[in-house]
Amino acid sequence: MASSLSVSSIFYHVLILLFLSPTCLSNNLAAKHSYSASHRHRSHHHSSMSTTKLNQAYVALQAWKRVIYSDPKNYTTNWVGPSVCSYTGIYCSPPPYDPKIKVVSGIDLNHADIAGFLPDELGLLSDLALIHLNSNRFCGIIPQTFDNLTLLYELDLSNNRFVGPFPTVVLSLPTLHFLDLRYNEFEGSLPTELFNKNLDAIFINNNRFTNAIPATSGGGSASVLVIANNNIGGCLPISIANFANTLEELLLINTSLTGCLPPQIGYLYKLRVLDVSSNKLIGPIPYSVAGLAHLEQLNMAHNKLSGIVPEGVCILPSLANFTFSYNFFCEEEGICSNLTAKGIVFDDRRNCLPDKSLQRSKKECDNALEHPVDCFADYFIGGSFGGPAALAPAIVPATTPMLPPSPSPSYL
Ligand SMILES: *[C@@H]1O[C@H](CO)[C@@H](O)[C@H](O)[C@H]1NC(C)=O
Ligand SMILES: *[C@@H]1O[C@H](CO)[C@@H](O)[C@H](O)[C@H]1NC(C)=O
Ligand SMILES: *[C@@H]1O[C@H](CO)[C@@H](O)[C@H](O)[C@H]1NC(C)=O
Ligand SMILES: *[C@@H]1O[C@H](CO)[C@@H](O)[C@H](O)[C@H]1NC(C)=O
Ligand SMILES: *[C@@H]1O[C@H](CO)[C@@H](O)[C@H](O)[C@H]1NC(C)=O
Repeated sequence: MASSLSVSSIFYHVLILLFLSPTCLSNNLAAKHSYSASHRHRSHHHSSMSTTKLNQAYVALQAWKRVIYSDPKNYTTNWVGPSVCSYTGIYCSPPPYDPKIKVVSGIDLNHADIAGFLPDELGLLSDLALIHLNSNRFCGIIPQTFDNLTLLYELDLSNNRFVGPFPTVVLSLPTLHFLDLRYNEFEGSLPTELFNKNLDAIFINNNRFTNAIPATSGGGSASVLVIANNNIGGCLPISIANFANTLEELLLINTSLTGCLPPQIGYLYKLRVLDVSSNKLIGPIPYSVAGLAHLEQLNMAHNKLSGIVPEGVCILPSLANFTFSYNFFCEEEGICSNLTAKGIVFDDRRNCLPDKSLQRSKKECDNALEHPVDCFADYFIGGSFGGPAALAPAIVPATTPMLPPSPSPSYL
């Protein structure tokens, strides 16, 4: 899979990460100085190419500055004149295709509290590898001209006021690996291509997405998928199994999920964190969950799950926290009834467990027992487990991501 282009853009990305890393800031300054010293004798060709690129960057950044209406921390105050590489939050480095020139390769305006929007001219910054705009007040939509950012590796637009449908332009970016759209006001359906794309991490939580998680036919490559706090609805498609070779964290908290958990969730053998809490899930815990040998955190609280809590789950070797409160479970099999003995943090309150305290009333439990759930019927009658993939889940081997993301521990 890895063409020489993508390998070189990964190096590019690593280089820029070093530039952005706070511990490297002083090195970065030193590098900037030694850079200009050692490149005084560059050829005319490189020089004019670099000048053109930096002039285009100047046009783009001045256009951006014109549509910034509030900058309380003065990040853009020094965005004056043609030396764009010295602007606050703008980083330059050599692009993968020419080590002798300098281009704008990164934007880092995290926590700048800037209000404004993103102008079409940002498409001129075609060498960008990183855009970090976390915690600002940018509004409007993501310009279609972003399709020009063909070297973009990381896009973090989180915690802003972006609106409109899912910004499908990001799906056209060939080297994008990290997509963070959380805490915005994007709405409408999630595109199927989002789950087929070669992304390492997908954060789309806390938006206004609706219309179910699309079933996919191809393989995803994400190791982290966070959809929480959207009014998505529908069932978890069995094609989630297409993420089997990569997915380590799946967070579907408060997404209005309905129906039964598909047994295919047990195919996600790399999962360490599974959180489906605060949904409308019904039926039992699939026995296949007992196959998730790396699972550490399992949260199923606040659903309408019922039946037996299977011992196979409680004896998972890495399980450290198993929360299944606020459901309708009526039995804890074997050691599940004494997770303290296993050193597992647990919460089994508000179920229908006869020998435990803090359970639901007999009336509530009897009522639930009178309406048993038939998940098998759901598959074939509801048809909601996801299109053609429902009958033949395709487990497509995905390539191991070369750079596993190590995002900050709290996603929400
Ligand atoms: C930003 O600049 C304005 C005008 O010079 C000044 O009044 C304000 O205190 C500055 N804000 C910060 C956070 O430095
Ligand atoms: C795309 O980038 C190139 C420079 O690489 C530039 O010449 C062109 O105008 C850009 N297109 C848009 C739509 O910004
Ligand atoms: C649950 O998600 C909805 C959006 O679907 C949101 O309005 C609500 O605040 C979320 N609840 C919590 C506790 O975050
Ligand atoms: C266990 O998980 C629940 C649900 O995610 C969380 O609220 C709780 O803080 C966790 N407990 C520990 C000790 O990690
Ligand atoms: C749970 O297991 C521990 C340690 O094996 C034991 O001391 C305790 O009595 C057990 N509790 C119940 C309710 O069986």
